Amino acid sequence: MKLTGNTIFITGGGSGIGRGLEEALHALGNQVIISGRRAGNLAETIRANPGMQSVELDISDSASIAAVAQWLIAEHPALNVLINNAGVMHIDNAAGAVEEDLIVSTITTNLMGPIRLTGALVEHLKQQEAATIVNVASVLGFVPMASAAVYSSTKAAMHSYTQSLRYRLRNSSVAVLELAPPWVRTDLLNSSEEPRAMPLAEFISETMTILGADAEEIIVERAQLLRSKIGDASFVTQFNDLLEQSQ
Ligand SMILES: NC(=O)c1ccc[n+]([C@@H]2O[C@H](COP(=O)([O-])OP(=O)(O)OC[C@H]3O[C@@H](n4cnc5c(N)ncnc54)[C@H](OP(=O)(O)O)[C@@H]3O)[C@@H](O)[C@H]2O)c1
Repeated sequence: MKLTGNTIFITGGGSGIGRGLEEALHALGNQVIISGRRAGNLAETIRANPGMQSVELDISDSASIAAVAQWLIAEHPALNVLINNAGVMHIDNAAGAVEEDLIVSTITTNLMGPIRLTGALVEHLKQQEAATIVNVASVLGFVPMASAAVYSSTKAAMHSYTQSLRYRLRNSSVAVLELAPPWVRTDLLNSSEEPRAMPLAEFISETMTILGADAEEIIVERAQLLRSKIGDASFVTQFNDLLEQSQ
């Protein structure tokens, strides 16, 4: 996608990958509007990036999505990029009864949220000369991490949903991209100090380079092995054995 001259709305903008991406896009002169639940994180981020704007959003709540979408269209009619980034990840045990709260919050946040928000903004995006929807999925959507079965399944579903969306919008002005990060050092699963995860700045830099090219999937080099193993049942065992051994 074109990396300048956009009006961009991003979910989950107060931390991690969202914050890294939006700061890189803000530095390129784009108008960026960030969102999330924690007002303090949003305020701190826009203070550090003059010109950036923020709005509180709970992506797991359909009423919050509808209100924010209406506000966005009214206040930022030039809006042409949506980045569905917000997400939660919890360890679970698929071999037992997974806690109800974990099931509901993970699926409403990671899957229903982006589908609802895209639905609320897509007609507006279609009116723009050039628009982009970026869905943040995960390599765990290609090869599941068995100890985060619900999370991995939401990311596999995001991969599928993104492909359908891309197909349905193929004759419109809206491009649909999938960003599937590898393990990156953020607060997700308390990984900000995790040596096995990719440093955030390195991830953002490589991601921005690919985002500026014409790829439909943004897969940094570290993520490519897992991308290539989609559908490979024997690799699921190998990958999860490796993860268990390295814990
Ligand atoms: N880090 C990794 O290793 C990795 C790998 C693959 C994919 N990803 C994906 O990358 C995305 C960003 O994650 P991250 O690693 O940057 O972790 P993070 O720092 O924890 O960011 C997640 C963001 O999502 C927001 N969020 C969570 N629930 C929300 C809700 N109900 N409504 C609105 N916002 C909500 C959080 O803000 P509030 O809590 O303030 O709402 C937070 O800013 C996620 O979709 C994640 O699945 C991460």
